[in-house]
Amino acid sequence: MRLFANPRLDRTNAYPAALKPILSLAAEAAARREIASWPGYAPTPLRALDWLARELGVAGVDFKEEQHRFGLRSFKALGGAYAVKKLARAANGAKLTVCCATDGNHGRSVAWGAREAGCACVIYVHEHVSEARAEAIRAYGAEVRRVAGNYDDSVRKAAADAAAAGWTVVSDTSWEGYTEIPKDVMQGYGVMVAEALEQGGVPTHVFVQGGVGGIAAATVAHLWERFGPQRPRVVVVEPDKADCLTRSAEAGRITQLTGDLDTIMAGLSCGEPSPLAWAILDPGADAFMAIGDDTIAPAMRALADHGVVGGESGVAGMAGLVAVAKDPAMRTTLRLDAGARVLLFGTEGGTDPALYEQLVGRDAEAVSRSRSP
Ligand SMILES: Cc1ncc(COP(=O)(O)O)c(C=O)c1O
Repeated sequence: MRLFANPRLDRTNAYPAALKPILSLAAEAAARREIASWPGYAPTPLRALDWLARELGVAGVDFKEEQHRFGLRSFKALGGAYAVKKLARAANGAKLTVCCATDGNHGRSVAWGAREAGCACVIYVHEHVSEARAEAIRAYGAEVRRVAGNYDDSVRKAAADAAAAGWTVVSDTSWEGYTEIPKDVMQGYGVMVAEALEQGGVPTHVFVQGGVGGIAAATVAHLWERFGPQRPRVVVVEPDKADCLTRSAEAGRITQLTGDLDTIMAGLSCGEPSPLAWAILDPGADAFMAIGDDTIAPAMRALADHGVVGGESGVAGMAGLVAVAKDPAMRTTLRLDAGARVLLFGTEGGTDPALYEQLVGRDAEAVSRSRSP
């Protein structure tokens, strides 16, 4: 496990005007108006983990429980589906086929949005995506295609097939020449950040998961534009087997990883940062950390013991917080003192139900039912 304090951090200036075309509070407000109008919309619960705060010697820990997001069980329901609905509206009745690569959750969101908007949908999964996750995507009527290689290979394959077939790529990551749609995806994530602050007030620290960097960038952008140099400290947490953001921070430029990147944190199994997200994280994130797979099941079980559901990728931030809180040097680096109030985004619940049950010993519904009111 390693923590890298960002040497390029800007805590002097207001949110740069140059970043507003990527993510802004104004565009987030539009996303929220739209998303709040969807049937079944409700803010996901913010759970106060007083037991964890006591154990770690901080003033508070809040956990945003995305298990309950539109029945999709992850925050990704906010992003991909929002981008699809915007595209469908702009197409004005013309038939669209949308397409993307996924580790599971983004594809589920795009497939759900496509079904709601009446678009055809083709989703690419790589060889390590579980069949349960593929099946959950098919349940929304999408065609699922399995391809060799890792997440980044599936991103390239989806883009190539879409170009040949005339489909619209709705990716959660960006690349040179492809930036507009991923901005909408990330902007949708900002709704989760806004809800959390309304529910729990302004924290001193946020520990947030990093895959390609989208949700971390949405978090930093929101906090920076709203609170400027006084914003909460943001720590980006990734698997040590897929630590492309931490390595990029260490190298001072976007760094790509290869290999199978296979980690229990399936949603964070990404080797290439999104350049749009990186533009925000490079000056805006306080620190990056890489954690081991062995920290995940204990975090899931501790939450379950208190009636809170967190899935494998959803608890990475909590696992990072626990590691930092137990290390005096890291606490000092991040100024994580007894007055700290920490916000965690539990970005997924039991998105692979069999795996959740195997790791926790009970299914996610049973854990939710065990909560004392
Ligand atoms: C549950 C979960 N958390 C976090 C992330 C990371 O999001 P991003 O790739 O935008 O960094 C993902 C990505 O798929 C995810 O599925």
